[in-house]
Amino acid sequence: LFAGPCDFVAAVPTIDRLPPITLTEVAFAGRSNVGKSSLVNALTGRSTLARTSNTPGRTQQLNFFSLGEKLLLVDMPGYGYAEVPKAEAARWAEVIDLYLRGRASLRRVCLLVDARHGVKKNDLDSMDWLDQRAVPYQIVLTKADKLKQKDREDLLAATAKTISRRPAAHPDIIVTSAETGEGIPALRAVLGLFAAA
Ligand code: GTP
Ligand code: MG
Repeated sequence: LFAGPCDFVAAVPTIDRLPPITLTEVAFAGRSNVGKSSLVNALTGRSTLARTSNTPGRTQQLNFFSLGEKLLLVDMPGYGYAEVPKAEAARWAEVIDLYLRGRASLRRVCLLVDARHGVKKNDLDSMDWLDQRAVPYQIVLTKADKLKQKDREDLLAATAKTISRRPAAHPDIIVTSAETGEGIPALRAVLGLFAAA
């Protein structure tokens, strides 16, 4: 599974610059700094493929990467960071909206949630948006290495409760750490369901 090379495919600043549809796609969404780009790197096994940063607002375009030439991973700009200029955030939101609602090859959105913070108001807004448009998504918790063992069960229970109230059926929550590699095989297995043979 995903034994082939992983490479940068395209950076998309505006919707007219989307690459042609070749493979199926899985997109990574979530608050700024939640660890979207780091998770994409962990999945590809290339730590510098997607640019990461301590400073929220790093990813400013839709960045497409191929996973073993079987699937495209789409690293998206984050939301909810006050320091990003409003006009800029609105521009990103527009590209993301148009992509998510119109891309025939998109199979799933991984909605990333920081394991230390849990689901926030703007994550719920994102879930509403996705549910209303019937875009399939699943929750992936990030930065599990920062979580104390005793907080784990509480977080998982709280997150499971939040999504159990949602209209769409939900796949299992995957707990990950780009730092330790926890959950990466599990997430790869899920992505394998959408990959080309
Ligand atoms: P934007 O592109 O700005 O929306 O951020 P992002 O969601 O792509 O986050 P990014 O991957 O750039 O990571 C943000 C910060 O979190 C960086 O300093 C990463 O090193 C750190 N980080 C990401 N994943 C993990 C993780 O699993 N564990 C720990 N401890 N830190 C992480
Ligand atoms: Mg990023």
